[in-house]
This record gives sequence, C-alpha cells and structure tokens, in this order.
Amino acid sequence: MKTIIEPFKIKSVEPIKFTTVEDRQEILHEAGYNPFLIHAEDVLIDLLTDSGTSAMSSKQWAGIMDGDESYAGARSFFRFEKIAKEITGFKYIIPTHQGRAAEKILFTILGGPGKYFPNNTHFDTTRANIEFSGAEAVDFLTPIGKDTSTIADFKGNMDIEKLEQFIKEKGRENIPLVMITITNNAGGGQPVSMDNIRKTKEVAAKYGIPLFLDACRFAENAFFIKKREKGYENKSAKEIAKEIFSYADGCTMSAKKDALVNMGGFLGINNDDLAMKARNILIVTEGFPTYGGLAGRDLEAMAQGLEEILDEHYLTYRIRSVEYLGEKLTAVGVPILQPPGGHAIYLDAKRFLPNIPAHQYPGQSIVCELYKTGGIRSVEIGSVMFGKTEKNTGRFIPSALELVRLAIPRRVYTQSHIDYVIESVQEVFNNRSKLPGYKITYEAPMLRHFTAQFEPIKL
Ligand code: F0G
Repeated sequence: MKTIIEPFKIKSVEPIKFTTVEDRQEILHEAGYNPFLIHAEDVLIDLLTDSGTSAMSSKQWAGIMDGDESYAGARSFFRFEKIAKEITGFKYIIPTHQGRAAEKILFTILGGPGKYFPNNTHFDTTRANIEFSGAEAVDFLTPIGKDTSTIADFKGNMDIEKLEQFIKEKGRENIPLVMITITNNAGGGQPVSMDNIRKTKEVAAKYGIPLFLDACRFAENAFFIKKREKGYENKSAKEIAKEIFSYADGCTMSAKKDALVNMGGFLGINNDDLAMKARNILIVTEGFPTYGGLAGRDLEAMAQGLEEILDEHYLTYRIRSVEYLGEKLTAVGVPILQPPGGHAIYLDAKRFLPNIPAHQYPGQSIVCELYKTGGIRSVEIGSVMFGKTEKNTGRFIPSALELVRLAIPRRVYTQSHIDYVIESVQEVFNNRSKLPGYKITYEAPMLRHFTAQFEPIKL
C-alpha cells in the first residue's frame, strides 16, 4: 500500500466555526494585525503552534481520570518518572509546568553576567531566559542551516569548529553548558544528526562542559536519524532516542510537543548538586518535586504520551504529513524552507515577497493575508520575532531569515484540512503582488511578537 494513513480513529470531534473573508478582515483589524490576539474561535485551521495543541489519545484521557492527586509521592509521578528515565536515562527527572519553567530554573542556577550559552539555535524562550539572567546566548548553526533553498539531511547541526573556537576564546569557566536543540525549531524544524550530537559531546567533554538537550521534539529528530543517517535504518526510534540522550548530561523538555500533552515539561539532570539546586528552586516557583506545577492527571497524560510518541506508525505518518504539505506547496511554486521540517513548514517570506523589505515585515504580511484568505493562523518567525532597532543609532537589524511557520498540531488535522491549507497558501501566493508591508505601532520590551500591534502600509 502506498497511502500512509492516519494511524488512529477519531472518537471525539470539535466543530470548526466558519467565517467569511469580510468577517476576518474586521477581526484582523481589531487584533492589530497580530494573530496572537485573534480569538481561537475565529480561526478555521490553527497552525500557530504545535505546542500544547496535540489531540490526546483515549488512553491519555483515561489517565486524566486515573491521575493520583496526592501532594507528595503521587503514583502518577512515579509512572511518569519511570518512562522519562527509561527514554532519557537521566538520574533526576524534575517535572515543571512547561518547557520555559525548566529553562528558567536551569539558567537561574547556571546563568548570570559573564556567562555564555552556546546552542545550535536557541528558541526564543531559551534565549530570553538566558538573557534575563544576565548571560549571553550564542548560536552556532552549521552554515548550510541558514540557506533556505538547499536540500540537506541535517540542517540543524551545530557548527562544531566554531563552538570549539568560542570555548577557547571565552574560557570553559564561563560556559556552564553547551546546548543542542532537537529539532531546530527556530531554524526550520531541521534535525541534528547523531554524529553531530556525538561530536558536540566530545568537544564539550574535552573542556569539561556538560551537554544539555532542548529535547522538545526528540522523537521527530530520532525518526529523521532513522530515515537519513547511515547505520540507523534498522534501529527503532526508541533505541535511537536513547542513544541521543546517552550523550547528554541533562535536558530541558517541553512535553507540549513530543509528549503529546496540552501542558507539561521537565528537567532531566545527571549531576547531584545541580539537581538539588533545581529542586530547591522548583519548590519555591513551581511546586513539590513530585508534581512541579502540574496536577497528577497531567503527569499521567505525560507518561502515556511518552509511551506513544516513539510508535513508528505514528512517526511515519507525522513526518510524512508535514512533508506532504511541503511537497505540494513546492510543486505550485511556493518558496519554502527546504527540506520540510519535522513539525512545520516554513514559508520563505524573502523569496515569497521579494519587494517587501525586512523592516516592513514580509512574513507578517503573509501571515495576515493567509488569515484573511483562508482563516488559517500561522506565525511570523523573522524580523518581528528576532529583528531589533539599535538604541543609540536607530539602525534596524533584521533577522537572518524571514519565515512564516505553518506548525502542524499532532493528530489534529486530516489530509483534507491540509489540502485546504495548500489551496489557501496558493491563493495568497497568486495575489502576492498586492500584499502590503506592515509597520509596528506598539511593541513590548521583550518577546514583542506576542503582543505587538501593526498597521498595513498603504501601497
Ligand atoms: N524550546 C523549543 C525548541 C521550543 O520550541 C519551545 C516552545 C520551548 C523550548 C519552550 O517550551 O512553550 O513549553 O515553555 N515552542 C513553542 C512553539 C511555543 O510554538 O514553537 P514551552
């Protein structure tokens, strides 16, 4: 059989509210042209994020009922801890309410002025938590990872030579850890190879620096390794995931991605002292170490999600369905970041709208038009998210890439939803000469993309 089918049946459905182009024009205007400010009810297909938007399985829902809500030592914690340890091998598993809470704890302990944290590419909350501590976040993505059109297997890799040079330059005492983000979300959901993880570990270990993973999408990364890296074709996704974690000394994890839950996360740590410090902060900010900001039922759902995520029928469908969207868009000439990532397709706004300069936010223009045309919510990952205006000179510094992310929630949409997305993007692409640039009329001092307000620039 050639057709890869969704490896599940649908038992519970949620109706979609239909709106017209005119309705959406009005809604967009009221939201200040920022899709984060649109009510979710007014969205037909929500591709804003794959985070916390998964459809849980019947077994996860059963776990919700079965959760043990004891304050200390709940059975649900031990079930969660067991499976998290089995996959990651870490000595300590510290639950948090989501990924950034794990980041906040880690960088509160290890960050501070004069410290540097290298990563293949930091996600925005990771960078923000590092910078909030007074430390510096530095990205060392392999050069090919910045090229949106070349097709290569592991465009999320760390540039290991640059990393080593940086360690020598800044001194290992100023680098509390090296991090690898799998898959590289900010760089197009591109995977990191096992070889690169192993070599990064070797360099870090040479200088006595621990390696941590930002492991949100570890299962998708593991599956890419199975499909693309020599020597892994006959290993199971679970074996590959275990090997990935075996090179790390710890991880931050947003369970809202590859643990298939709507809320949850954890810190994995091997070092006794670090784990003790992390638990102490956890108690102040999140909760007791056996619940860490979550209900027992959340831990139960997370345990079950971790059991399900490495199923290869699921991963085959997952990676293929994202690739399908990418292939169809490419076939009609829409420029996307190549090759398709694990959790999302990223439209290449620079090539999509070459006439709109970075300071007029071409990605935001596509995001708005896609909502207006098809009721589809996406997110700009470009100069709105990462661009800056220098305080003293007023000079605009654009993001290296101008992307629009179409993130695919796990197990939520069927192929016909995706076909509708393809038609809508194609229509926006056909109208591209009529799209306006945008200006920002309000922005917050940090993570401005969440709350910024925009206005279209009259053509
Ligand atoms: N690291 C990566 C690579 C992420 O993609 C995210 C979240 C986080 C950390 C933080 O996790 O949301 O649980 O606090 N990414 C979401 C997204 C928000 O849409 O890509 P969190």
